[in-house]
Amino acid sequence: MKILGICGSLRKDSYNLKLLLAAQACLPEGVDLERFNCDGLPLYNEDLDTPSKPPAVERLMDAIRTSDALLFSTPEYNHSIPGVLKNAIDWASRPAYESVLAHKPAGILSASKSFVGGARVQGHLHQVLDSTLTLVYPAPEFLVPQSGDKFDASGALQDADTARRLQSYIYGFIIWAGKNR
Ligand code: FNR
Repeated sequence: MKILGICGSLRKDSYNLKLLLAAQACLPEGVDLERFNCDGLPLYNEDLDTPSKPPAVERLMDAIRTSDALLFSTPEYNHSIPGVLKNAIDWASRPAYESVLAHKPAGILSASKSFVGGARVQGHLHQVLDSTLTLVYPAPEFLVPQSGDKFDASGALQDADTARRLQSYIYGFIIWAGKNR
């Protein structure tokens, strides 16, 4: 199984990138996670959304098309989805209902320095993905609140409870995605 990881933060020291790497580290044999970096995607413009798309957009769409499942890891910006992630989804979402996102299984992770761990971005992202017919893993949200305390200086997930919950989420997600790909 091939999972495509998409991080909603471009920040070098992003907790959400660290979370994606922690998820990658707990994958069982036979499951791989590749990451797509949204840096470099142009802003969505319908004038550019022609059969010959900007190269970065083609790369995004190929990466989604050839993956078995998607795993988003995203911060919450102003109670919603960071623009870079929403922009990537907008590019990938056309043609409507027949895009590379349609019927693709997806999981959502979020990490935030706040106490709520990105609860609001989870809801907003779920709603946006519903509009693209992406299948969102129907499990309790995986949130990492107070993310500043959960990773060590090297970027590794150091909080044992979060690591255990992540392992359990990822295993459940893989089984579910395998049945739905
Ligand atoms: C934030 N942050 C934030 N956190 C939160 O829980 N709810 C929010 O609405 C917001 N809004 C927000 C807006 C903007 C523009 C920034 C830059 C930040 C804090 C945010 O969760 C925190 O900076 C995370 O560490 C960002 O994620 P990465 O880059 O570490 O993955």
